This record gives sequence, structure tokens and C-alpha cells, in this order.
Amino acid sequence: MNAALLQRLRQSLAHREGSSLRRKLTARASSDTRVNLADNDYLGLSRDPAVVAAGVAALHEWGASSSASPLVTGYTEIHQQLEQTLAAWQGYAHGLVMNTGFSANSAVLGGLPKKGDLILADRLVHASMLDGIMASGARLRRFAHNDLDALELMLHEEPALDGVIFVVTESVYSMDGDSPDLKRLASLRKRFGFCWVLDEAHATGWYGATGSGLQEEQGACAAADIVVGTLGKGLGSQGAYVLSHAPEVRDALINFAGEFVYSTYLAPSCAAAALAAVDRVKGMSAERSELYALSQAWRDGLVEAGFAVPSGDSPIIPLILGDSDVTLKYATALRAAGFMVSAIRPPTVPVRTGRIRISLRRGLSPAVLSSFIAALKGVSA
Ligand SMILES: Cc1ncc(COP(=O)(O)O)c(C=O)c1O
Repeated sequence: MNAALLQRLRQSLAHREGSSLRRKLTARASSDTRVNLADNDYLGLSRDPAVVAAGVAALHEWGASSSASPLVTGYTEIHQQLEQTLAAWQGYAHGLVMNTGFSANSAVLGGLPKKGDLILADRLVHASMLDGIMASGARLRRFAHNDLDALELMLHEEPALDGVIFVVTESVYSMDGDSPDLKRLASLRKRFGFCWVLDEAHATGWYGATGSGLQEEQGACAAADIVVGTLGKGLGSQGAYVLSHAPEVRDALINFAGEFVYSTYLAPSCAAAALAAVDRVKGMSAERSELYALSQAWRDGLVEAGFAVPSGDSPIIPLILGDSDVTLKYATALRAAGFMVSAIRPPTVPVRTGRIRISLRRGLSPAVLSSFIAALKGVSA
């Protein structure tokens, strides 16, 4: 290996090590019985019998791989059925399945905005959105997290533009579990005429009468121009999708997005599992109030035990601990006590806001909350 390159890599890794920020990969064993409070399988659908059976049936029918990029032969009837199902469910006319949420966001935000355009993005939007934004050549301004007054001020401040204004938000923020007021965003969109890109990754399945997401929950159905969602979180599968009212968005991705054009397409088994998961989610309407009660019970329990967490009813609860070494200490102790948790540190989150991101799952018993709190108290003692 080139010596200068090795030296550079070692230096940057040592820098991370020194500030307790070095990331390490740990292989999870299938026999690990610890309570998983880290993944995004909020509804437990990745192990749902109907979802697994649909994936297995598709494995037998289509084989283990799509074996080609979508414009060659990778796009199958099952992908088509999935994109149509997702679009109809969430109130859009057009949908396109993508390989990952990361590539969907980077394709949308790297491809649609151009030099001369302006992007107004919430300060905490996901890395995949920023990746796209940086590649787009458009000018970026970031507004304070969930602060729609600040967004409105920026919209007033900007002189008339020849280009397009994009507003970029999530519906449930991945590391904070909080949300913006989507109805207000919808009314700002009407007033100012911007293109609103909304990432519903962490809301799908959890929110809405039919589980289609936070737009449905807040009575702002299909208000965003473009929705990005993933199949790998609440839907218990793998892959992602982009929805739009305008057919041109789908066509532009098919024609210009390298992430779509030049990559082996999502395995049909993942698409089939996601289709079955959508069905399961639609049938869980009666259970959704239990999910919100679960989230509130965890938040109340943590606050009562002296840990500051925000109120809310999303599946993500940030337990902010501050410095990275403190966060690591908690994570290590919790793992030893039987909880799979991950220490989220900068640059994933802002400096000094290291945290345990508690990720809830349908069916967690009250006993788990009690033993989790006991374990937390054990660390802080
Ligand atoms: C808000 C948000 N969008 C997109 C993604 C990426 O989705 P995927 O895991 O399907 O690549 C994530 C993943 O963590 C996310 O949190």
C-alpha cells in the first residue's frame, strides 16, 4: 500500500480514537438474545410470519438476486406492484423503488436541484440528504431544527430567484425522534411555491390511520411534492422508494440518477417482503394507539427515574448524555446488562450531544422498561 496513503489513514483513525469517536463494526450473532433497542424494526415485521413467507416465496420464484440493473432486466413485476402499492397508499400518482434510502435521498437531492437553485434544509436532516445537496451545486441554507418561523423568515429574505427553491425536511428525525408541523409546512409551500422534499423514513408504519406516515397522521396527506421512504425500517424489509405527484420526477430518476441506473436492483424477495409488510401495517390500525402509549410510557418512566428525555410518541427516544466517553460508558454497561443499544456520537449528532438512541418495538413489555431503567441507574450510580 502507498506509504503516504497509509500514513493519512492512520492519522485520521488515530484522531477519532483519541476523541472516543472511532467507529467499530461488531458482528451480531443470531443467537444473541439481548433486547434490541437499537434497530429500526419498530413493528417487528422483519420476523413477521407473513412477511418472511412472502420473501421466501419470492426467493423461490425469482431467485436470490434481481441479477441486473433495473433498466436491463432487474425491474420485475414485483417491483412494479410495490411502487404502485406504496404510491396509492400514501396518496401519490407515481412511485419508484430504489435500492436504499441513502441512495434515494442522494439521487433526489443530488439530481433535481441545480446550480442557481436554493435549498433550505432543516439543520438536522440525514447525511444522505446532505450528500445529495452537496453534489447538486445548489446553494444551501440551513434553518434551526424544526423552527418553521426561521424557515419562513428565510423564505421572506430571499430575493426573487430565477431558479427553484427546495425545502428539505424529515417527518420523524432519526436521532431525535421529533417532528415538524407538517400542516404548517404545507401552507408555507402553498404560499411560497417551493418544492418540498419530505423524508418519511422513520414514520412509515408507525404513524397514520393506515400507517402510511406522518402526513396521514397530521392531516397533511400527500402535501409534500416528493416523499422519500425506506423499506428497511418500519416495513421490516430492505430498500427504499421515491413518490411524487409529477411523473417527471420518476422519469428523471430513471434517466439521470446513477444510483438507479448503474446498480443491481433490489432483490425481488425484498420487494415481496415489503409488499406483505404494507398489508400487515394497514391491518394494524387498532394497535397503533398502543404504540403511542408504549412510547409515552417509556418517556414517562425515564423522566421519573431522573433521565431527561423529550416528550412525544415516536419510536425514537434520544437519551442525551453529552460527551462521547460518557455515552460509550453507558452503552457498554447497558449491553452487558442485556440491552442491544448503540452509542451515537458526532459526527452523526452535533458535538457534546452523544446519546443512546432508544428505538422502540411493538410488544415491548413493561418489565423491559423497568429492567432498562434499573440498568441505567446502575451506570449512573
Ligand atoms: C431519515 C433517514 N433517511 C434515510 C435513511 C437511509 O435509509 P436506508 O437505511 O434505507 O439507506 C436513514 C437511515 O438511517 C434515515 O434515518
